[in-house]
Amino acid sequence: MRMRNKYRKPTSFNYIAGSRCSLSTVVWSLVGFLLFLHLYSLVSHYGAKGGVAQFGTSHNPVIRELEEVEHENIQIPPPRKRSPRAAKRRPQKPTTLIDEFLDESSQLRHIFFPGMKTAIGPTNSDSNDSSYYYPGRIWLDTDGNPIQAHGGGILYDEKSRTYYWYGEYKDGPTFHVHKKAAARVDIIGVGCYSSKDLWSWKNEGIVLAAEETNETHDLHKSNVLERPKVIYNGYTGKYVMWMHIDDVNYTKAGVGVAVSDYPTGPFDYLYSKRPHGCESRDMTVFKDDDGMAYLIYSSEDNSELHIGPLTKDYLDVTHDVRKILVGQHREAPALFKHEGTYYMITSGCTGWAPNEALAHAAELVMGPWETMGNPCVGGNKMFRLTTFFAQSTFVIPLPGLPGSFIFMADRWNPADLRDSRYVWLPLIVGGPADRPLDYNFGFPAWPRVSIYWHKKWRLPSG
Ligand code: GAL
Repeated sequence: MRMRNKYRKPTSFNYIAGSRCSLSTVVWSLVGFLLFLHLYSLVSHYGAKGGVAQFGTSHNPVIRELEEVEHENIQIPPPRKRSPRAAKRRPQKPTTLIDEFLDESSQLRHIFFPGMKTAIGPTNSDSNDSSYYYPGRIWLDTDGNPIQAHGGGILYDEKSRTYYWYGEYKDGPTFHVHKKAAARVDIIGVGCYSSKDLWSWKNEGIVLAAEETNETHDLHKSNVLERPKVIYNGYTGKYVMWMHIDDVNYTKAGVGVAVSDYPTGPFDYLYSKRPHGCESRDMTVFKDDDGMAYLIYSSEDNSELHIGPLTKDYLDVTHDVRKILVGQHREAPALFKHEGTYYMITSGCTGWAPNEALAHAAELVMGPWETMGNPCVGGNKMFRLTTFFAQSTFVIPLPGLPGSFIFMADRWNPADLRDSRYVWLPLIVGGPADRPLDYNFGFPAWPRVSIYWHKKWRLPSG
């Protein structure tokens, strides 16, 4: 006998005065409506900027090469043998890749900090390796010396058609002022390197040097000078450098400004201040297409970022400032722009230890900014959770390849900061994702920002 299943749900239901409608009709109408909304949001989002919607895989073969997802399988060595007594006292936790990275005596040290033998650069690369980036390897300048430009940024000088890389020159001993203090190197100055191809770098010397004798000077070697960035001011014709200025305990929390008539300096140091009267630690400057420039800095104990326009001569901030990413505890900001949308990569706040990067996006540079998620693709899970064991510092647009950038990051070596490495990787806006995008009413909120891991890669020729 056929029994009626009392739990069976009806597959159709009554609506509007008893007319019947199948569930699938409702679902399909809903899908249609969502699709329409999706198209509408894409058209209005991109139509306003005259751009092209670009979600998904790129059809440009040059870019496709950069977007290839490359995996890293690193075997963690078995735990060291301990006496049975020690094992009883404190049972051993399984080590992770980040434990190995932070352990100076790890057997995997050569993976994160390969030695001089594998250094790359114009003086010791054969033709097969020339122009290839090897993230994490020692990178030599045209004289054969390791490049010293940490926490740096790039200026493209239109006049000389040359790239200039400015960064912390850290070629001195690493020490701790007291037990709990972060590892440091006394200020030596800002290093500058020039290049036509973004791979072969000529040392242009120290363009802003430490102050050796005057202890009250911001640049006295006992202080902190970090994350220098240079932008060109078309109105005054000057090159303006902004940097993080601090005391040894990071309590001063200010920015410093220096200026020069030439990209290769020397830069005259002008002053330091707390911008908008607020603490300022990790920072960067961003020059927009319309010539307006902005200072972005971590503030309020690094719990939020602040962004505000610079004056016309770029030598100061204006009174206008917005708080962004409030309560998100982000630092190491690196800003860039694509098709009218602003993007930013930031790190978490764990000192020299690496952590997870996040990508953010905004329609207007002053915000509101939205957090999209971790942009790192490939490697392995630990690589992605540690920004490939590095921390963001700058993003360079690649001319002729819209939507393609170089992500610049520092792989800090707190045991010997001068030996910190550079991790440069392709960053693509709108590239294929390895996990779902963030959705807003069922639609991707922003094109995805992806940083693709590569053991070895190079810029497309030409
Ligand atoms: C990091 C910061 C670096 C440096 C370091 C000192 O959080 O990004 O630029 O200040 O702390 O521990």
